[in-house]
Amino acid sequence: MKITSICCIGAGYVGGPTMAIIAQKCPHIKVTVVDLNVERIAAWNDKDVTNIPIYEPGLSDLVAEARGRNLFFSTDVEKAIDEAQMIFISVNTPTKTYGLGKGMAADLKYIELCARQIASVAKDNKIVVEKSTLPVRTAEAIKNILDNTGNGVQFQILSNPEFLAEGTAVQDLLFPDRVLIGGNLEGEREALDSLVEIYANWVPKERILTTNLWSSELSKLTANAFLAQRVSSINAMSELCEKTGADVNELSRAIGMDSRIGPKFLKASVGFGGSCFQKDILNLVYIAKSYGLNEVADYWEQVVIMNDHQKRRFASTIVQTLYNTVSGKKIAFLGWAFKKDTNDTRESAAINVCDYLLHEQAHIAVYDPQVKEKKVFNDLQYLDSRSLEEIEKGITVFEDPYEACKDAHAIAILTEWDEFKAYDWEKIYDNMQKPAFVFDGRNVLDAKKMVSLGFVYSAIGSTN
Ligand code: UDX
Ligand code: UDX
Ligand code: ADP
Repeated sequence: MKITSICCIGAGYVGGPTMAIIAQKCPHIKVTVVDLNVERIAAWNDKDVTNIPIYEPGLSDLVAEARGRNLFFSTDVEKAIDEAQMIFISVNTPTKTYGLGKGMAADLKYIELCARQIASVAKDNKIVVEKSTLPVRTAEAIKNILDNTGNGVQFQILSNPEFLAEGTAVQDLLFPDRVLIGGNLEGEREALDSLVEIYANWVPKERILTTNLWSSELSKLTANAFLAQRVSSINAMSELCEKTGADVNELSRAIGMDSRIGPKFLKASVGFGGSCFQKDILNLVYIAKSYGLNEVADYWEQVVIMNDHQKRRFASTIVQTLYNTVSGKKIAFLGWAFKKDTNDTRESAAINVCDYLLHEQAHIAVYDPQVKEKKVFNDLQYLDSRSLEEIEKGITVFEDPYEACKDAHAIAILTEWDEFKAYDWEKIYDNMQKPAFVFDGRNVLDAKKMVSLGFVYSAIGSTN
């Protein structure tokens, strides 16, 4: 089937950028992105494209080019479903916060709602594509819902997990390492081929991989688990480096040159964040346990345990170094996002480090080039460990990094934004309390230079 009309349910970090690229590369396809969130859709439609709700390098130009031509953003979910031949489900699948599997399993209520809505609206055959990261065998549940509530309409389900990373979404979508499409290889070849054809407009055929549905679903969880595991592995070594005089950056270089290991994803840090890693590993652990595979579950859970430890260790080092008390002291946070070049803060290490230091009665001054005050406060409210009033008393969000650092007892770097390297560190030093401590949770600053300026500088995984 030649696809000319696509709908994507969910206008978030995955749905928005992915559909913008499909629209750009396939001018013959009408792409409509829908969301229940009225404010979010309004932002995607904002006349000033710099106001789109997601900050991603290059994204606003893409949207400016395609929007109104063959890319549309709307809250009319039913109309978009009705018109589309192919429907991508790109809604969020957070960790369950209640009931069975609380704190571990993926909450599939939004997915189920989508399936039910598709079933009730569809009047002709549809291809339904899972884009969100899902537990293995979710397609079966979706298929059941669709087949039992549809009006005799045929549904074909494909799994097409997205591997883009935030901050590099546009590049990742334009030049993917691979595109993975899972389907029922016997009966649904045609559906599978029609999705392959869409990607073939810009992705070389040999990079478009087709597998069975379950391999595709499980590959996505596996990829995220392996990537997160690398970060936890190098972070585990960072603690040992600090005790032994080895330098974790040197370690990363040395092991990364082994082609079997490879150089990427070996940066020691204050801990990984983001909407995927922790959620997907916990989900994997839950799935393994549900099959009684306790060793498999324990093996992967350790990746998250190590990450929690790394975040706590960073925070407690700050307290210990500041003479075992930060009560009433100003500590400046440079960075709040979970990584550079994004305004996303979900599961950011900054949140936990801040929480820890607030418990120690510190005053936190936050500066992040892309994160606004409202989001910082929301992130802490979400932890549910103190009232909004206490949060507002404990944290000040600044729009100027120099103001954030003024009179601070210590600076903690939580995100690796490039601009931090270019700051006038001498000026920052002059305006701080002495001794002036810097805790570089991302190893972005030049240790020698910082020490020569007078800072007491500590990085992750080295003793300078
Ligand atoms: C290893 C290291 O590779 C080498 O760099 C170091 O100097 C010594 O230890 P070796 O033990 O000789 O070398 O063999 P290697 O190829 O690493 O295999 C080790 C074991 O892992 C073997 O039993 C191998 O069958 C197994 N293996 C390896 C797997 O089961 N799967 C794999 O994908 C790779
Ligand atoms: C990840 C996967 O990379 C992507 O393929 C998947 O589709 C979604 O999840 P994302 O969470 O956007 O993407 O960012 P990623 O670059 O993977 O970083 C995740 C976290 O790990 C960040 O907090 C980052 O700072 C941290 N990280 C990454 C490290 O601490 N060290 C590293 O070497 C790499
Ligand atoms: P991701 O990072 O996976 O893209 P986001 O949370 O950024 O996740 O985006 C998911 C989007 O899906 C949200 O904007 C949310 O409002 C939307 N959404 C969730 N359920 C539905 C639904 N049933 N219909 C339409 N949109 C939905």
